Amino acid sequence: MAKKYTAEQITEGANLNGKIALVTGINSGIGAETARVLALRGATVLGTARTLEKAKVACAGINGHSIALACELTDLNNIRECVDQIQRLDIQNIDILVANAGIMALPTLEQVNGIEKQFATNHLGHFLLVNLLLPLLGGTSPTRVAIVSSAAHAQAPKMGIDFTNLSGEHNYSPWRAYGQSKLANILFANQLNQRLPEHSSAHALHPGIIATNLGRNMTQGVFSAFLAQIMRPFMVSVEQGAATSCYVATHEDIVASSGDYFAHCRIAKTSRAAQDTALAEKLWSISEELVGL
Ligand SMILES: NC(=O)c1ccc[n+]([C@@H]2O[C@H](COP(=O)([O-])OP(=O)(O)OC[C@H]3O[C@@H](n4cnc5c(N)ncnc54)[C@H](OP(=O)(O)O)[C@@H]3O)[C@@H](O)[C@H]2O)c1
Repeated sequence: MAKKYTAEQITEGANLNGKIALVTGINSGIGAETARVLALRGATVLGTARTLEKAKVACAGINGHSIALACELTDLNNIRECVDQIQRLDIQNIDILVANAGIMALPTLEQVNGIEKQFATNHLGHFLLVNLLLPLLGGTSPTRVAIVSSAAHAQAPKMGIDFTNLSGEHNYSPWRAYGQSKLANILFANQLNQRLPEHSSAHALHPGIIATNLGRNMTQGVFSAFLAQIMRPFMVSVEQGAATSCYVATHEDIVASSGDYFAHCRIAKTSRAAQDTALAEKLWSISEELVGL
């Protein structure tokens, strides 16, 4: 499949009428476009943003059915409240779940409850959200989970996930920490696959390189500015950037390829660490402890 497809083009002909699609981070970038296109194809979008106000504004811009929800991924209580809200909606099944929200390359170390903030936001927040929603995933009809990772997962520390430095206090590097959180996304998808009911599946993906608010830190520091410069020729539009999320969330071809990682709407290669089952199992159990499951 051509790598320049847009989300609208890749979902051409898809009928999502009656389907429920949860998308995190709908107020910006790829998440906004993913939510828009899933609603365009008929899904009712449960759209989360860090505040209810942001989610409401984003939903108001969606042409179709959508429900605004607050979900601040660094706040475990807020994630639990979001899940309570969803349960009150009397939904039997979430058919599509796109774990999209994220932050990248914070220039200096920031922590949430003693954990490095990119790992806390990109991995742990989604880990708790998805786990709390498990009873709604695949119970009455197949669920597709799309976890938005990144090719930057290859920049994770040598050992994959550095469990001795989840606080980030030893040797903090903005890109290594981002890479680690995105590696965690893939390892999480692989393990989640084994815990979902038959016919449901979870897949991680790289959306491409897209100029969104994610790059807000890239103007800071010589390395980041240089990186932004050399990435420019490889960039795609937001409409194209949402294509792989929408492909993974909706396309028939995915059924036979459970657990794989996608980029440009095709199966793509991951780093060796991303294929390490023992590492994925260890991440799962440590994540459970960290979020209090
Ligand atoms: N853009 C790229 O080139 C690229 C490449 C590879 C992977 N990705 C991945 O694609 C995903 C979407 O990124 P994007 O490019 O669309 O970036 P974006 O425009 O910055 O959107 C990120 C979204 O995540 C939300 N978010 C950030 N921190 C959050 C938190 N603590 N709790 C809840 N939501 C939070 C943001 O909310 P606020 O607006 O309120 O901060 C926003 O809605 C990310 O997972 C990113 O790692 C992007």
